[in-house]
Amino acid sequence: MKNTVSTFINAKKSGQKLAMLTAYDYSTAKMFDNCGINGILVGDSLGMVCLGYKDTLKVTMEDMLHHTKAVTRGVENALVVGDMPFMSYQTSVYDAVKNAGRFIKEADAHAVKLEGGAQVCEQIEAIVKAQIPVMGHLGLTPQSINMFGGFKVQGKNEETAKKLIEDAKRLEAAGVFSIVLECIPAKLAEIITNEVSVPTIGIGAGAACDGQILVYHDMLNMFGDFKPKFVKTFANVGSLITEGVKQYIDEVQNSKFPEKEHCFSINEETLKKLY
Ligand code: KIV
Repeated sequence: MKNTVSTFINAKKSGQKLAMLTAYDYSTAKMFDNCGINGILVGDSLGMVCLGYKDTLKVTMEDMLHHTKAVTRGVENALVVGDMPFMSYQTSVYDAVKNAGRFIKEADAHAVKLEGGAQVCEQIEAIVKAQIPVMGHLGLTPQSINMFGGFKVQGKNEETAKKLIEDAKRLEAAGVFSIVLECIPAKLAEIITNEVSVPTIGIGAGAACDGQILVYHDMLNMFGDFKPKFVKTFANVGSLITEGVKQYIDEVQNSKFPEKEHCFSINEETLKKLY
């Protein structure tokens, strides 16, 4: 079934939970799409899990478009959301609309995501006015780590919790079709989920959210630098890759691979003429 912005809005109404994952390339996106995932976020987390940066701040529009193009080529049914990188929308409303448009025109994304609350509502309104669906993102927004002082759970005191509730309402009023809630207390995420009419997509925000998203390298144990508390390992793909690669090295170095079945033949007559 094709997933659209309406699918997301209707899922909230019917109580159907939404499953999202990140993806950054054609093959992975195609695999997830065939599994029936509702949405794929081409997250700027690619800066960390694909490009090896310590955070997401160095990721560029060109990085994001390159990976989003690969993902959309592999997807038939999932809603593909392109993540707007640091400084592609904070600088001005004009930049925000222009860069959001590039995700749709150049990379075939269906929607964009950007981080922040009240301070980015002007940009969100303008992007939505340009007919581009926007997913909001509140809580631990990684593009603000220098303001937060690191990757820390957000909304733990009355003031910051109330601000997040207010920000969620502001995002809804600005026209977002859903809101990612990252690393906030589960009870606060439940309050926000009940206060807004658009679906909340949680990551480290508990079970009451209308959907969940994880970085696939985390849930498949493919990223060894650190493992956030909210991540569950659904398959040990990292170990499988390590085992497979070690076996390959062993077989090549000990002349066990390739075998006859992996080789191409040539007819004897032609072969004779080569000596
Ligand atoms: O960049 C990303 O992958 C994200 C998710 C963690 C929500 O923003």
